Amino acid sequence: IDISKLRSVTGGVTTLDAGYKNTGSCESEITFLDGEKGILRYRGYSIEELADKADFLEVAFLLIFGELPTKEQSEKFHADIKAQSIVDEDVKKILDAFPKSAHPMGVIASLTSALTAFNPSSVNVDSEEDMYKSVVKILGKFPVLVAWTFRKKEGLPLDYGDKNLGYVENILKMMFRQPNEEYVQNKILVDALDKLLILHADHEQNCSTSTVRIVGSSHAGLFASLSAGISALWGPLHGGANQAVLEMLEAIKLDGGDTKKYMAKAKDKADPFRLMGFGHRVYKNFDPRAKIIKKAADEVLGDLGIEDPILDIAKGLEQEALNDDYFVKRKLYPNVDFYSGIIYRAMGIPTDMFTVMFALGRLPGWIAQWREMRLRKEPIGRPRQVYIGETHRSFVSIDER
Ligand code: ACO
Repeated sequence: IDISKLRSVTGGVTTLDAGYKNTGSCESEITFLDGEKGILRYRGYSIEELADKADFLEVAFLLIFGELPTKEQSEKFHADIKAQSIVDEDVKKILDAFPKSAHPMGVIASLTSALTAFNPSSVNVDSEEDMYKSVVKILGKFPVLVAWTFRKKEGLPLDYGDKNLGYVENILKMMFRQPNEEYVQNKILVDALDKLLILHADHEQNCSTSTVRIVGSSHAGLFASLSAGISALWGPLHGGANQAVLEMLEAIKLDGGDTKKYMAKAKDKADPFRLMGFGHRVYKNFDPRAKIIKKAADEVLGDLGIEDPILDIAKGLEQEALNDDYFVKRKLYPNVDFYSGIIYRAMGIPTDMFTVMFALGRLPGWIAQWREMRLRKEPIGRPRQVYIGETHRSFVSIDER
């Protein structure tokens, strides 16, 4: 039922649904999710097939424009993005003003928002052509901001990418290139990052995506809407879980690797500890992305010849949870973030950059959802409330209180 239509008949209907567990906020053609069966599809294509056969930029095009690109469309899209991959030099001054200890998610949210100031024409987008310009701009500039945020933390000089490279190869080179050294691409890392970005690219109306849509619904610009989405993603109950998972696995390792102790803590309602990377608002079955990532983690670590005891702890926790009544009854399975950090770590990405990598992957999904919302001319998002405060009171002057 489209409740918004009831207003004219009834004079106003308010549903209360804390956390929007059963409330649809929009109609969308982008991502299909069946949480009971563990199915995820982008524009009708299964996530398994896309992760196996497509590359990230193809998936970005698919999400944003609705179809897989032809060869010509793909080349043009990439060329348009590359042409926009220069960031105003003054943005470096903003980056310089952050302390080295700043969390990269805070930095990247601020820099993304700052792009609006350097690209004022990106705010008023009245035509599809204007939208396209903003879309390729942010797809070009965001990886540069990610690389700069990382390099600033690492004390490395800031530079631009290599226009001869693919989108994902270029991201890796921009991040990891050492001064006065030739950067050699590692195909294992390129493929792993490509897959991770595809798996994170969209997930219908989650917290950050809903944020992007609701901010965008006021016709704030794309970059401001994305910046708000990045802030929403940061939280440990959402994208920040990938950092929290690795910190949890590290803590378990340091504590002697006793997974049973942590399982007991997670089940203890008096203990605020939760098993990070477990549970999902919509999936009440295996998160299909987690299955793919678990396999990829095994492959990447094997290919790179890395033995990481953290992976064993993760697998141990998963096995215990699968056989534990508490987790089974509540249908708590590993989610996308449970194994992704293990791959990022193997790639040499520091823990506090994990959620930034998630944002890099989610960027096309946020853009696609924002674009759909604007093209459908959706009304401004403005939930109601059920007021439970005082009724009418008379003012008491300060001397009489
Ligand atoms: N560990 C222990 N218990 C859990 C966990 C967990 N990770 N997740 C949920 N539960 C329990 C809750 O305590 C609750 O138990 P109760 O019924 O006895 O009260 C029950 O399972 C239902 O949990 P809710 O919090 O009501 O479920 P909700 O849909 O609101 O939350 C969420 C989903 C936020 C993902 C939650 O499962 C969680 O906090 N997981 C850990 C953080 C995490 O991994 N987040 C990443 C999600 S994926 C993403 O955003 C990219």
